[in-house]
Amino acid sequence: MRKKIIAGNWKMNNTVSEAVKLVSSLTKKIEKNPPSSTGVIICPPATALASVAPLLKGTPIEMGAQNIFWEEGGAYTGEVSAKMVKNAGAKYTLVAHSERRTYFKESPTVINKKIKLALANKLKVIHCIGETLEEREQKLTKDIVLNQVEWDLKDLTPQDLKNVIIAYEPVWAIGTGKVATPEQAQEVHGFIREILDAIFEPGTGKKMTLLYGGSMKPDNAAGLLAQPDIDGGLIGGACLKADDFMKLIKASEAASK
Ligand code: PGA
Repeated sequence: MRKKIIAGNWKMNNTVSEAVKLVSSLTKKIEKNPPSSTGVIICPPATALASVAPLLKGTPIEMGAQNIFWEEGGAYTGEVSAKMVKNAGAKYTLVAHSERRTYFKESPTVINKKIKLALANKLKVIHCIGETLEEREQKLTKDIVLNQVEWDLKDLTPQDLKNVIIAYEPVWAIGTGKVATPEQAQEVHGFIREILDAIFEPGTGKKMTLLYGGSMKPDNAAGLLAQPDIDGGLIGGACLKADDFMKLIKASEAASK
C-alpha cells in the first residue's frame, strides 16, 4: 500500500516570522490530531528553512525546499544549492514546478540535472508535471506528461525512483480555482503509472507515489483523494492557512480508511 501524502508549497509567501507563526499553529493542530496514514510535508521559502526546521522536530511534518540549483556550488549569484537546503533541514525539494518551467524557462535538461543532484545529496524529489490549458484543448495532455516523465527522469535507476514523488499539476488548475475533476485527474494518474512501467520497468508505476496539485481545497479534496491512483495532494493556496491545511490532512486520513 502506498502511503498518502499532503504537501504544502508555500511559494513566495511568508517572512521568517510569518513562517514561524504558521508552523507553530500547524504543529499545535497536528499534535491534537496526529495523522496515522498520511505523510505531511511543507515547503517554505529558502529564507525560512533554517528557522522552521527546529519547530518540526518531534512532529510528523517533514520539510522540503521549493527549488535548488543544478550545480553543487560556486559562482552562481543568488542561487541556493542542494547541500545548503539539506543542511538547513530540508528532506525534500520540489523540482520543475510549472511556475519554474514558465517563468524561469527550466528545460528538461536542467530539470534532469536538478533531480540527479538532489538525489546525490540525499534529498527526495517532488517532481511536478502537467499540461497547459492550450495543450489540454489540443488533446496533448498524454503526450506532454509522457515527455516530461521520459526526459525529466532520464537515466534514473529503480533505486533513484524510490526517492521520487510525481505531482501531476495541470497548469490550468494551479492558483486558478479551476480544479480538475476527480475523473480527469484519475485518468492522467492512471496513465502516468502505465508510462512509468513502459519507460522504466514493469511494476514501477504501482510503487511510486503520485500527487495531484491544482486548486485542491478542503471542499474538493475528498473526491480527488478517493481516486485509486491519487496518493495525495500538492497544495498551494490552501496550505497558507493552518486550518485549511489541517482539513486537507484530515481529508487524506479519511480517504485512507
Ligand atoms: P494551488 O497551487 O493549490 O494554489 O493551485 C498548487 C501548486 O502550485 O503546487
